[in-house]
Amino acid sequence: MNQRRLRANPHIRDLVAEVSVSQNDLIQPIFVDETLSERAAVKNMSGVFSDTEGSILSQIEADLKAGVTKFLLFPVPKDRFETDFRFDFAQNIVSKIKSTFGNDLWLINDVCLCSYTTHGHCGVLDTEGSKMLNAESVKILADYSLGLAQAGADCIAPSDMTDGRIGAIRQILDQNRLENTSIMSYSSKFASNFYGPFRDVCKSSPTGTALKNRKTYQIDYRNGSDALRSSMRDAAEGADFLMVKPGLPYLDIVTKLSQKTDLPIIVYHVSGEYAAIDLLAQNDLIDRMAAHLEIWTAFKRAGATGIITYAARSYAEIGQDNNKAQPTF
Ligand code: PBG
Repeated sequence: MNQRRLRANPHIRDLVAEVSVSQNDLIQPIFVDETLSERAAVKNMSGVFSDTEGSILSQIEADLKAGVTKFLLFPVPKDRFETDFRFDFAQNIVSKIKSTFGNDLWLINDVCLCSYTTHGHCGVLDTEGSKMLNAESVKILADYSLGLAQAGADCIAPSDMTDGRIGAIRQILDQNRLENTSIMSYSSKFASNFYGPFRDVCKSSPTGTALKNRKTYQIDYRNGSDALRSSMRDAAEGADFLMVKPGLPYLDIVTKLSQKTDLPIIVYHVSGEYAAIDLLAQNDLIDRMAAHLEIWTAFKRAGATGIITYAARSYAEIGQDNNKAQPTF
């Protein structure tokens, strides 16, 4: 069997390529930190910043110019709570971004309590600090989502992993005539070791409670069927998009899920996976953008529709800059 005929030159390779990646597939995460007076570069995540309320607008303006149009916003508020949560900082940023850029961009808002709680867990805990309280957390997350949608968010993306939040959020949005605000569920989200750099930026590592980690609400990575059931459950509750997170270690879940659902599947290439590429590149062991392109292509080959990646911005910038080498397949 001659397998090399179809690999013989770039024309043939392009012709027989089964998948392609474009800027349209990519979503750029953005961080806005209320405690900062100046924007700060994130360590080992090139092109990623903790922005201030002011600096985020110029960052987005530059991104739009380069061709990034879809953003996932993580607000990092100054105050932390146990009860009586306030979300005005997040709502203000959303309305500022949307009133400045309107429909030139599509703004997704991460919804979770881990940057809001005193202990860094994704919901509220019982008085002993040993259990996450589901119903109480869902109520707060739904109220938070409503505020963001009223402020102009295009899409709500709950990443907390409580049960029933998709149904509750859909219901409160519909009751308030926000039926066009979509929901992207972090539906197959694993309790992963790859979230470290993100938790530093968002100050969201669990600390000081009897409940030590997120394993009672995020999915056990030995249990792929839980990930599929959780996604199908969220689809039934009204999610418009499903998500698999992290990316590369979970390509089997992406493929299996894509065979079970017609909903779009978004893969989140998370902070630890991103920093790993950066560290290889800093040591001249990899071509950074070529590596990202290979990984994005693998996501699409596995069945992904879209990709959340911290390199969406770098990819757009390279496209604009003729002096920078384009990565090739
Ligand atoms: C919040 C949240 C996390 C990420 C996205 N939303 C961290 C976590 O669950 O601990 C991780 C994103 C990344 O690592 O890039 N719950």
